[in-house]
Amino acid sequence: MSKKVLVINGSDREGSFNGQLASQLVSELERNGATADILDYSALPLLSQNNEYPNQQVITDIRAQVKAADALLIVSPEYNGSYTARLKNLIDWLSRPTEQGNNEEITVINSKPVAVASVANSTYGKFVRQNLNTLVAYTRMKPMDHEGLGIKIPGAAWGTGQLELEPEQQEKVEAFVKEFIAFIG
Ligand SMILES: Cc1cc2nc3c(=O)[nH]c(=O)nc-3n(C[C@H](O)[C@H](O)[C@H](O)COP(=O)(O)O)c2cc1C
Repeated sequence: MSKKVLVINGSDREGSFNGQLASQLVSELERNGATADILDYSALPLLSQNNEYPNQQVITDIRAQVKAADALLIVSPEYNGSYTARLKNLIDWLSRPTEQGNNEEITVINSKPVAVASVANSTYGKFVRQNLNTLVAYTRMKPMDHEGLGIKIPGAAWGTGQLELEPEQQEKVEAFVKEFIAFIG
């Protein structure tokens, strides 16, 4: 049966380059026999320990989508050498038990296979990818043993708003997806 991948974009910017990469990754995953969707978590509030319980419908729905996925693929911009606040907020929510105080509960992200990717400036998202790999391991996901897919925003993209990958970047995407598919089995 084909594997189900949930792709998560750390940016909500209209025309986000990471969002465009996420869409290209969805197509590439589908070309490789997987099914893939992009998670919409735009309605998720900022986590506060005052609003965690009882579980809000929005996080219950997101948890169900994460649970149903065989693997996660996180794509994020690099903000000051790390991931975005909205992405950290999502992972914080997913790292928490559904039942207050039940710290033994197995979360929906526990052991979830995951890999990371970023489109960024001259760093190729090296720092966000490093920090994300640390965060996903900390929250007990199962990271692919890979530094992640790093793409530099092509100069022309700033003018057109379009992420047109150069041929060698496209090859990188294809090789990364093949490795990810092999990882998730
Ligand atoms: C607060 C902030 C911090 C940023 N820091 C970095 C950075 O550390 N490294 C980098 O390559 N780009 C950095 N950028 C530029 C982003 O890479 C650029 O805005 C990119 O378009 C964001 O991704 P998106 O198009 O998917 O939203 C930063 C942008 C913002 C808004």
